[in-house]
Amino acid sequence: MSPDRFAALWRSLLPIGRAGRDGGYVRHSWAAADLECREWFAEEALDRNLTVDTDGNGNLFAWWGDPTAADAVVTGSHLDSVPHGGAYDGPLGVVSGLLAIDELRERGVTPRRPIGLVVFTEEEGARFGVACLGSRLLTGAMDPARARKLTDRDGVSLAEAMARADADPDRLGPDPARLGRIGAFVELHIEQGRALVDLDAPVGVASAIWPHGRWRMDFTGEANHAGTTRMTDRRDPMVTFAAAVLAANEEARRQDAHATVGRVEATPNATNAIASTVAAWLDARAADEATLESLVDAVRRRADERAAHDGTGFALTPESESPTVEFDTALRDRIAARLGQAPVLPTGAGHDAGVLAAHVPTAMLFVRNPTGVSHAPAEYASDADCALGVNALADTLEELAC
Ligand code: GLV
Ligand code: MN
Ligand code: MN
Repeated sequence: MSPDRFAALWRSLLPIGRAGRDGGYVRHSWAAADLECREWFAEEALDRNLTVDTDGNGNLFAWWGDPTAADAVVTGSHLDSVPHGGAYDGPLGVVSGLLAIDELRERGVTPRRPIGLVVFTEEEGARFGVACLGSRLLTGAMDPARARKLTDRDGVSLAEAMARADADPDRLGPDPARLGRIGAFVELHIEQGRALVDLDAPVGVASAIWPHGRWRMDFTGEANHAGTTRMTDRRDPMVTFAAAVLAANEEARRQDAHATVGRVEATPNATNAIASTVAAWLDARAADEATLESLVDAVRRRADERAAHDGTGFALTPESESPTVEFDTALRDRIAARLGQAPVLPTGAGHDAGVLAAHVPTAMLFVRNPTGVSHAPAEYASDADCALGVNALADTLEELAC
């Protein structure tokens, strides 16, 4: 696959959902840009004579070979984004999947096993709060009744959002028959750090995903006047919130883990009024589950202590939790060998592959990202590296399906 071939298909997707302000992407599930991305995918798949179908969770599938046959080799990723995210996180795996099928056909390959390409819904959890929502629903890791009630920032439920997009929310839920037909899953993804840059390698293979999760933090206090309320009389939840953010940062550094508070909503959000409530979201990740638990416990304890000092309220509620994932070692080693001993690396980022890994032998390929930036507009991979990624994915599918 040439870099120009990659670039031509890549460019056809780029205009959809690009937000003018910073060149980042806003592609939230079931909203207009996501629906346009889905149409783009269906058209590209049909142009290739693939059979397109959708499960009850909005996960889109395209099949080369019999969609009802067992032991399929499936690749894919997602097309939704974080708010003002980069172009590559998710779409690179989908575009590469389409092009890997082109590449295999041009090689004259006839797969013995069906090859599937999937676009998972709401991988980022950017709209409804739960990461990898589509793959969790497919595998039964998420209760469909709970999913239907999840709401976005405007109070629109997942059920309502699906209905507005002509999708039936009553069909949400596990699909063991479909899952049972998948014999192997491989997700290609842009690397979200600089490990491959440091190793001078365009493509790597994943070993593991750090355990991680999201917790909602609710701080409550008393709304009052900024100019007349004595400092000693205040019950200001913003102060408790600030202390919790600092505690999370300190604890993550101390425990060699990662903690981020990237989203906050204050009420009433007025310059000259003490806030009545602050809601914020803690994203925490660590190399092992014991450290993750210890990190979150420490944040909870320190925020509780600070709330007692400030006369405020504090509550921590889990929204989305993902255990450690160790990818199938036999599959990983087989792919790394086929790719000429590609480097093997762990990641702190979550993926649908991590959810699938509990059910199906699963692997991931990473493509070098020279900026090392992800979830932001500076996320980048060169066309040349992306074309090498397509070839690596084609090699992998050929190894597994032929
Ligand atoms: C998804 O990209 C995540 O790791 O949050
Ligand atoms: Mn992401
Ligand atoms: Mn992703």
